[in-house]
Amino acid sequence: MELRKADFGPQFRWGVATAAYQIEGAVEEDGRGPSIWDTFAHTPGRIKTGENADVACDFYHRYREDLALIREMNFQAHRFSLSWPRILPEGRGRVNPKGLDFYQRVIDRTLELGLEPWVTLYHWDLPQALEDQGGWTNREIVGWFGEYVEVCSKAFGDRVRHWMVLNEPTVFTVLGYLQGRHAPGRKGLSSFLPAVHHAALAQAEGGRILRANLPEAQIGTTFSASYVQAAGPTWLSRMAAIQYDAIANRLFIEPALGLGYPWRRAPFLHLLRPYIRSGDLEKLAFNFDFIGLQTYFRQLVRFDPLAPATWAREVPHEERGGELTAMGWEVWPENLYHLLKQFAAYPGVRRIVITENGVAYPDALENGQVHDAKRIAFIQAHLRQVRRAQQEGVPVEGYFYWSLMDNFEWAEGYRPRFGLVYVDYPTQQRILKDSALWFRDFLG
Ligand code: NOJ
Repeated sequence: MELRKADFGPQFRWGVATAAYQIEGAVEEDGRGPSIWDTFAHTPGRIKTGENADVACDFYHRYREDLALIREMNFQAHRFSLSWPRILPEGRGRVNPKGLDFYQRVIDRTLELGLEPWVTLYHWDLPQALEDQGGWTNREIVGWFGEYVEVCSKAFGDRVRHWMVLNEPTVFTVLGYLQGRHAPGRKGLSSFLPAVHHAALAQAEGGRILRANLPEAQIGTTFSASYVQAAGPTWLSRMAAIQYDAIANRLFIEPALGLGYPWRRAPFLHLLRPYIRSGDLEKLAFNFDFIGLQTYFRQLVRFDPLAPATWAREVPHEERGGELTAMGWEVWPENLYHLLKQFAAYPGVRRIVITENGVAYPDALENGQVHDAKRIAFIQAHLRQVRRAQQEGVPVEGYFYWSLMDNFEWAEGYRPRFGLVYVDYPTQQRILKDSALWFRDFLG
């Protein structure tokens, strides 16, 4: 199938995505407070390479040129996140005018280039001051987050139409509060379960605040997703897949849609009950204008009686026989098609935007160029799956490539390069990879 931009329709949005902590640097500048990621990255052993994002891509000082690159590649939209501790250094109370000012300049520049700003409110950099009071495990966070959303919607709402409340709540609760692999590095169900419930409440509450303050806004939130398949034909294997899917794909969207938590599929979720107060199940629901879907790989799972909570164990990607990326993730583009169908099947889902999809390969700079043919093939294969779903009636209305440029890949450090733009960290030079040139021609 030949890929043509026009086939995706005139309303389809083409964009790139980034997140504050992964690109900005300037962590101590202009009154920014520390976040849980500053603490985590400075704790020995937490980041595989021992790196941190104190400087990252130095976007804080280079945003004008970086945003121009988005325009140069002929994209229409720029998805980025606001850093909560830049705006409210203690997480609540005192607003930092210089923090607001930075994002005003980013938004000004985005608009001046003719790009749409798509703002994510929470992309994992929780103010450390709030973590010191329990972070997502403390129910008070719903109010703290609400205060932050109030400040942002009032400051930027006149010029930002597209909002996303949370970035991948399943990932930040599982990796940050269950497995301890991401900040704040907590482990165990007693942290995970309250974090899940409070994030789900904050997700809906954030939507309500945006709606009240900005009646014209397009309000969404984003979900990590992986199409789940049972590795074998047995009943136990299918049961493991159902439970895994409940956590990977349903945990946060179903309460938002008013369906409650998927506890019939994953019975261990009944353990959430002690954290739920009367009236909460209604408060979890919010009628989002769009759903942001973010996906990188499928999951193949098998039954394992020793696997905690779900009895499901992932088949290691390297045992699946397919091509692997620099993250060690299997390339399987049909994943995107199946997920679009799965999410579109909910009656409450009105529109879907792929707010992240992308790939890391070991890119190398050769005579000032980066020949990332494999990334181009990855993108094309995934866009074909988007078209396939669209042709079957799925209301998918946008594709944001992760990421604009190489950046700090959380606990993996800088080694995985996801960007369309190569960043030479020692010099902070930016080089358009071949994939960037491909997008420029495709979208041009
Ligand atoms: C999802 C996250 O939102 C983003 O921060 C991360 O860099 C990409 N996935 C790639 O792992």
